[in-house]
Amino acid sequence: MDFAELAAIASGHAQARAIQVALKLGVFEALATRPASAADLANIVGADLRAISILANALVALSLLESPNGAYRLSTAAQRYLVAESPEYLGGMILFDEANFPLWASLENTVRSGRPARRPDMFQNDAGETERFIRAMDSLVRARGDARWVAEHLDLRRARKIADLGGGPGTYLAAMLRKNPAAAGELWDLEATLKVSRKILLEREADCADRIVLSSVDYNSGELPAPVDVIFMSNVIHSETAETNAELIRKCFRSLAPDGTIIIKDHVMNRALTHPPSGAIFSLYLMLTTNGRDYSFDEISRWLVDAGFTRVRREDLPSPPFSSSLVTAVKP
Ligand SMILES: C[S@@+](CC[C@H](N)C(=O)[O-])C[C@H]1O[C@@H](n2cnc3c(N)ncnc32)[C@H](O)[C@@H]1O
Repeated sequence: MDFAELAAIASGHAQARAIQVALKLGVFEALATRPASAADLANIVGADLRAISILANALVALSLLESPNGAYRLSTAAQRYLVAESPEYLGGMILFDEANFPLWASLENTVRSGRPARRPDMFQNDAGETERFIRAMDSLVRARGDARWVAEHLDLRRARKIADLGGGPGTYLAAMLRKNPAAAGELWDLEATLKVSRKILLEREADCADRIVLSSVDYNSGELPAPVDVIFMSNVIHSETAETNAELIRKCFRSLAPDGTIIIKDHVMNRALTHPPSGAIFSLYLMLTTNGRDYSFDEISRWLVDAGFTRVRREDLPSPPFSSSLVTAVKP
């Protein structure tokens, strides 16, 4: 690594904050339909003229705005990812990062104490937090295209009932049902999340919302509903301890019909837990907010084999833009 690379990474928080705050202020929405001068922009978003000019110039430097003749306008990337009407809007995820930003100030404490920087409650105790969390998941998956990729690549033709455990906004389940018109879907998640799932499914997945049954399931308490042909689990195990995951996978085994398939999607790490790099970095965020981290293929396959699964397989999604993998296994 050379000086320039190190310096850019070490000051990355400033760039992240510029984008987060611009989004929160409504800068990108203000410019969505027409360019605006700094004075107009200050009026529209309710900001100080000198300060909004400095912020807007930084966004030009980040290639999110352009200012060819004094007025600011959106770049192509900002039109595509930072305007709420865009189908690839990433704003939900960026606003979630914005809300969590203060937690990073506690990283030193967390490293010293080993304890998360907030209650690891999966954002279930405040309706506003739950909504921001679940919309973040939806916007990330939609902008990057994970759900489409997964639905295209998994062969679920024989599945009659597909359960999405910790399915959140239902983005994956809807894509899988669209691809497999004969299948019925079950979205298993916590009550507070399901309130948001219901809204998002009607807003975004109206064409298949009536094929999804939403069930209040706490996977840490009691057995899972049964029987189902497929259990899909994306970005769930990384929030839990190894012991909880081993138990959860045993529950999945009991819930699946014979010949049923479990599909785990997550960052799947190398044995040293250092690769993929995005997974190693993401584990810091998980350490601040949960009792989990990203796990290696060896760890995940051990839980699967110990639970009784066979034919454990791993497939990495193409990177970039993806950084996660699918691990599948079958109940004999
Ligand atoms: C990181 S989100 C992943 C959402 C979605 N699967 C995705 O990949 O976009 C984790 C999900 O697990 C759910 N969850 C967390 N703890 C749970 C529990 N004990 N029982 C059921 N669902 C839980 C959360 O409500 C949330 O929807």
